Amino acid sequence: MTQQRTVRGALIGCGFFAENQMRAWRDLHEMGKGVEIVALCDRDPQRLAYFRDLFGVEAAYTEAETLFAAFAGELDFVDIATTTPSHAALVPLAARHGVDIICQKPFAGSLENASRLIAQCSASRVSLGIHENFRWQHAVRQTIETLRSGRIGRPFFGRISYRSGFDVYAAQPYLARAERFILEDLGIHVLDIARALFGEVARLSCETTRINAAIAGEDVATLMLQHDDGITSVVDCSYATRLADDPFPQSLIEVDGVHGSLRLRQDFVLEIHDTGGHCVVQTVRPEPPAWSESPWVPIQASVLAFQADWLEAYRQNRPIETRGEDNYNTLALVEAAYEAAATHQSVIPERWNR
Ligand SMILES: NC(=O)c1ccc[n+]([C@@H]2O[C@H](COP(=O)([O-])OP(=O)(O)OC[C@H]3O[C@@H](n4cnc5c(N)ncnc54)[C@H](O)[C@@H]3O)[C@@H](O)[C@H]2O)c1
Repeated sequence: MTQQRTVRGALIGCGFFAENQMRAWRDLHEMGKGVEIVALCDRDPQRLAYFRDLFGVEAAYTEAETLFAAFAGELDFVDIATTTPSHAALVPLAARHGVDIICQKPFAGSLENASRLIAQCSASRVSLGIHENFRWQHAVRQTIETLRSGRIGRPFFGRISYRSGFDVYAAQPYLARAERFILEDLGIHVLDIARALFGEVARLSCETTRINAAIAGEDVATLMLQHDDGITSVVDCSYATRLADDPFPQSLIEVDGVHGSLRLRQDFVLEIHDTGGHCVVQTVRPEPPAWSESPWVPIQASVLAFQADWLEAYRQNRPIETRGEDNYNTLALVEAAYEAAATHQSVIPERWNR
């Protein structure tokens, strides 16, 4: 058997979430998948030093330009794990250096910027993959695949619900200051699940509110989506919901089809109901990575699953599901939702290459 070449990457942004990404890359490396992060970058020297010591990556830079210059011709990809405002400069920089790109969500602050980044990557012949991991959560994936298998027939209704009172602001203080909060940060993931389940959205309506007076943006959003295939879905998100048994960070899913229904319940229980009144119950608990910790296990496992798929796609030279052009349509739902909430009108979302 021929030895597969090691795919060499750099990580830009050594912040809160990137620790999961680095641990997942290390897992893939240790599993013999032939991938290695060989260089790090963060503007904050303390975060950079923390990651350098934690992951034993000596090549560490405070400027991305210096990293790319030092590794000219030696990198296959870059994993951009910084927050959105920096993507407008970092994505084109990476594209100019001819490396394939993974970029955290939201990959752009506007649809105009998103189009520009997609075009720049295309012109430089590099791939742009968006780190959208929620559709890679094991329980969500099992629900998507059960629906796609045709077991409950054509779906006509869905609900994806994410309601929690978890203090997300402790680890990500910038979220408390964001004018746009839950739709842009969390709703984007839940809307992506809606697209993965039910396809593109023809129009949507949305109402939002803020319950937590200490934050700047909305922390509750309720949307109704009409999909191209005639399916109606409800997407509801809240970070103001007090529950003794908080499901954070699980998304709960309901799908009604013409031959049965699916219910993804709390704690990774998937019910498959048929027309005869029978129900098959499956446990769809994620396999926890060794480094995962409660309550983050489903998210951390999905980071590993997303990155494993990215690596496989890279080797097979196939596009990933959540490439820039696809994720543009998820971003467009977020934009449409803010417009719908502001106008109390239903909105037709933009669509890539409509
Ligand atoms: N997919 C998920 O489940 C998930 C979960 C949490 C966060 N995120 C996303 O991950 C991204 C990062 O979030 P976070 O909470 O880790 O943020 P963070 O602020 O903790 O980390 C960002 C890091 O990037 C560095 N940085 C910023 N601009 C830079 C630049 N130009 N060059 C080099 N370094 C730069 C900062 O110094 C910081 O250390 C966000 O876009 C967020 O939405 C995704």
